[in-house]
Amino acid sequence: MSAAAAVAGNTSISTAPNHTRRQNPSFRRLSTILRLSQTSNTLTSAAAADPSPVFRSVESFAPATVANLGPGFDFLGCAVDGLGDVVTVSVDPSIPPGTLSISSITGDHHSAVSKLSRNPSYNCAGIAAIAAMRMLGVRSVGLSLRLYKGLPLGSGLGSSAASAAAAAVSVNALFGGLLSPTELVLAGLESEAKVSGHHADNIAPSLMGGFVLIRSYEPLDLIRLAFPLERKLFFVLVSPEFEAPTKKMRAALPELVKREDHVANSSQAAALVAAILQGNVRVLGSALSSDAIVEPKRAPLIPGMLAVKKAAVEAGAFGCTISGSGPTVVAVVEDEEKGREVGRRMVEAFLIGGGLKAAAVVARLDRVGARVINTTAD
Ligand code: HSE
Repeated sequence: MSAAAAVAGNTSISTAPNHTRRQNPSFRRLSTILRLSQTSNTLTSAAAADPSPVFRSVESFAPATVANLGPGFDFLGCAVDGLGDVVTVSVDPSIPPGTLSISSITGDHHSAVSKLSRNPSYNCAGIAAIAAMRMLGVRSVGLSLRLYKGLPLGSGLGSSAASAAAAAVSVNALFGGLLSPTELVLAGLESEAKVSGHHADNIAPSLMGGFVLIRSYEPLDLIRLAFPLERKLFFVLVSPEFEAPTKKMRAALPELVKREDHVANSSQAAALVAAILQGNVRVLGSALSSDAIVEPKRAPLIPGMLAVKKAAVEAGAFGCTISGSGPTVVAVVEDEEKGREVGRRMVEAFLIGGGLKAAAVVARLDRVGARVINTTAD
């Protein structure tokens, strides 16, 4: 079974060949311990295990994500196709056993690359990789990590989560894929909590693909929402040249909400979930457009956002909102060509309404999530 198939089947994010798991009793034992302890979110296996690497090097890709989807603040997100980060993790005899070093950060966006810390304790990929090493109990080998940023920083496309997801998947695969999807999400969540705030609506879909509902954080309970295969859905992602750091955009939110806003948002979020499961893009779009709590506070912080939303809907999108904490704005359509037209109108509106240059991409749902794209054996 290929790595992609393993993930697509939604049974595991493991990239280990099946025979690895069957033939190695210590892997089986470790898996059991991890799964038992997972219920309390306490991974007690680290002290017991010290798995051997099954590859010399593993390269993984993790997709961009759209979090919140309007009324699903911090509990709904989905992965989008084509955009993402790549992380390569290698066994490195020059690195002290049980530790990890970042050997290079490169990418499409110069400003992103130059701003990122090479200290693994302050880097999204590094934090998630170290968390995965700790969960696995890696003590006998040192690792080096290379990060390729395909995503800009602070864009609202889950840039930090994509780095964390690709790193966690690479470390896990390097040691035979022993961690479950939930454990990988927990590793990524450590990174998200440190870098941008404790929220799993980017990291979970980046790892698992498709739409993911975070039903609870304590204990972490994730529900994959299957959008029907035969239905068409396109996301129009319009990113202005403007940074909106997640921490700052979270600080703008109210601590308390009014009862009527709670009722309105809960019903729209429920409709959104129903629409995803039914493949009803029209309802999905209108529910996504109806956030009465978060969007009204954040929209004024993104120049032109409301004009862009209006332009998207006037051009035929079923709905439009801020992607994650912004500044990317996302609209949904059923037709790719229509998506391109909606994108053009949104770019125009960003310039006229907000004085910002912007670029549009039309993307499909990524149903697979983070995956191994290359391995090197000894
Ligand atoms: N749910 C998070 C937020 C997503 O809106 O702050 C950040 O991408």
